[in-house]
Amino acid sequence: MRPIIPDYLAEALGDVEPDNSGDLAAYIPELAAADPERLGVAFATVDGQVHGAGDIDVPFTIQSISKPFAYALALADRGFAPVLAKVGVEPSGEAFNEISLEGGTGRPFNPMINAGAITVHSLTGAEGSGPAERVERVLDGLSAFAGRRLVMDEEVCASEMAHAHRNLAIAHMLRSHDVLTEDAGAVVDGYTRQCSVLVTTRDLAMMAATLANRGVNPLSGEQVVPERVVRQVLSVMLSCGMYDAAGDWTTQVGIPAKSGVAGGLIGSLPGRIGIATFSPRLDPHGNSVRGVSLFERFSSDMGLHVM
Ligand code: DON
Repeated sequence: MRPIIPDYLAEALGDVEPDNSGDLAAYIPELAAADPERLGVAFATVDGQVHGAGDIDVPFTIQSISKPFAYALALADRGFAPVLAKVGVEPSGEAFNEISLEGGTGRPFNPMINAGAITVHSLTGAEGSGPAERVERVLDGLSAFAGRRLVMDEEVCASEMAHAHRNLAIAHMLRSHDVLTEDAGAVVDGYTRQCSVLVTTRDLAMMAATLANRGVNPLSGEQVVPERVVRQVLSVMLSCGMYDAAGDWTTQVGIPAKSGVAGGLIGSLPGRIGIATFSPRLDPHGNSVRGVSLFERFSSDMGLHVM
């Protein structure tokens, strides 16, 4: 791997900056009001060093990047068997907000799509946890991955909840199959809170570095989740993290990754680094346009493809 020098990262940002293709996530009104020009990149090494360029300390909502971390917490809290009984690990080949449930069982295909992530949210915390305890567990867990106390953006949360018809429909389908066993609306509310946690590009790089560091946060030294949970999470990120673009991503970039509709994108290379980018305009899959370009470049320049 070539040394990561700030000039290299600034040059990479400069090269993608003119690309203004893609659109903000209009289905969440507060996200449609974001500054589309924001652009940042951070690399966090497993020994806790951060190298960055651009807007790395600007907060934005984590959105779907919360999904692999909540999956890790559910696996750690409940064990593998109960979680795998409810959520599969197969790519859906469909958009992130499709119903995508297995015929017969109603089990969502994987934990990275909304159907799977809504179910995973219901499996966080000790068995028997109520809605407030789950939200607290997720906020505590995401904070442990980041190595600092995180907070929620109540406005983005309210804005998404006011228009959460698709997620509510998905949750009611899950409830009808008994994949969810409690009030569908309360689970969507908790999941939406999970998506509304504020992070910076620096935080995301550190969260990805915690996965790269086998579950140990490089700053705090805390073992946030067990190592075998991390292997499961990174495997699913590689096969499903970029939704219906996962095949292109895995062949071209080859880094376990996850995107979010606020414009964040993370990649995690076991034993090496966590990478995060931030640029809010999205491609039709819901992945950051300039973020994907940056990852393609890093993978190629530094030989980061896992194969
Ligand atoms: O549930 C939703 O639709 C959003 N809270 C999160 C979706 C998302 O981030 C998709 N990723 N690119």
